[in-house]
Amino acid sequence: MSTLKTTAQFFALRTLVRGYALFGDPYAGVMASPPDRDPYAMYEKVRAKGDMVRSRMGAYVTPSRAICDSVLRDNRFLVATFDEASMGPKVELIDNGEKIVNPVQDSFLMMNPPNHTRLRKLVQPFFTPRALKDRTESIQRIVRNYLDRLDDRFDVVSEFASQVPIQVIADLLGVPDDHKEIFARWGSSLAETLDGVWSHKQLKNLHATIVEYNDFIDVLIDERRHNPQDDLVSYLVTQHDDLSREDLVATTGLLLFAGFETTVNLISNGVLKAFENPHTVAPLAQSPEYAEGFVEEVLRLDPPVQYTIRWPKERLELAGVSLPKGMPVMLMLAAANRDPRVFADPLKFDPTRSNAREHLAFSAGIHYCIGAGLSRIEGAVALHELFKRFPNLAPDGPMARRKSKLIRGALRLPVRANETKRSLAVN
Ligand code: HEM
Repeated sequence: MSTLKTTAQFFALRTLVRGYALFGDPYAGVMASPPDRDPYAMYEKVRAKGDMVRSRMGAYVTPSRAICDSVLRDNRFLVATFDEASMGPKVELIDNGEKIVNPVQDSFLMMNPPNHTRLRKLVQPFFTPRALKDRTESIQRIVRNYLDRLDDRFDVVSEFASQVPIQVIADLLGVPDDHKEIFARWGSSLAETLDGVWSHKQLKNLHATIVEYNDFIDVLIDERRHNPQDDLVSYLVTQHDDLSREDLVATTGLLLFAGFETTVNLISNGVLKAFENPHTVAPLAQSPEYAEGFVEEVLRLDPPVQYTIRWPKERLELAGVSLPKGMPVMLMLAAANRDPRVFADPLKFDPTRSNAREHLAFSAGIHYCIGAGLSRIEGAVALHELFKRFPNLAPDGPMARRKSKLIRGALRLPVRANETKRSLAVN
């Protein structure tokens, strides 16, 4: 690790952010909010201040759906590096003098055109509507297979919600079955640091995870070069053999982690919404079409990715504010999804809402989530089949939330399959 910060620097950063948050700063408020606190109340406080709210930490924050959408589609705004986005200490990973590729930081998610366009195009064929249609049956098989393994009492997150997307993405990439278990650990470690590295412990975990991932993917790439199969890694190494090692490792890593760390939360947030809205359980279990609307409404009301950030590449005017070059704008996707100017009665969970798909849970513009279609299928099939199999599914003890502010979902969600309904202790 070349740029280890001192404990004092981590401490100073945390204190600064918490201090600003105490005084109602919107950016610091997001960064400092405890994982078990409902962030939506804080988003509404920001909304009450206006569409473009200035943070004393040198950023603007917007909860407006119209502004979020227009920024995401405006090529004068760029994505920046992981370190700038996190506003945390710079994290550079070096092992034995060699750069360790970070599957998020070094991927096309964090690139601007033309590199972004070049790399995104390479994997696009795996996400066309036709390719997704071909995968639907196998997703159904995977879901039923995991349901078959469940006992009366189980943890939704570790035994179901994370297993399904891990299996789906592992099949797509061509990852051998015996490596899937370790992804859950790697995924949590990466997801925890997506909104910044705030301690030495996190930095050490992140480093260990990324080194392990690099070692693992190097072996897989080598294997597929010599023995290609019908999967994405084989496709990249055989059809695009001019791709650099860094691009290959980062692109496959991005798909792997973006592909399951988000969808697991969609499924667990969906289970929570079903518990909070018991009248939705019967139609969810009966109708695959209702399940599609249900998933859309979960994405709108409790999205797995809560915000994103863009930087203007030049001085420009935005919603009456003059933005200097490089001033970050935090786009509060989760708040935009509750914008009352777009969504009538925005706090109501209504799986039949006609314009739910106008949510920004998958972002918009050139970085629009490449896996949106895949995760919509996974979410709808998983939730439909789960409640069809267990119509009396009920909470079985307190749930725990993930620590990240960027990624919202459950860390642990104990349930009982055949219990009469109990009340739910969640925020
Ligand atoms: C519910 C599940 C998911 C959610 C909520 C989600 C959310 C997002 C969001 C918000 C972005 C854009 C971030 C930004 O604009 O800064 C994004 C990008 C991306 N997502 Fe997803 N995602 C999900 C599932 C998936 C899946 C299943 C895959 C792949 C198999 C995937 C792969 C990607 C990739 C590769 C990008 C980068 C796109 C680009 O930069 O052009 N995601 N996702």
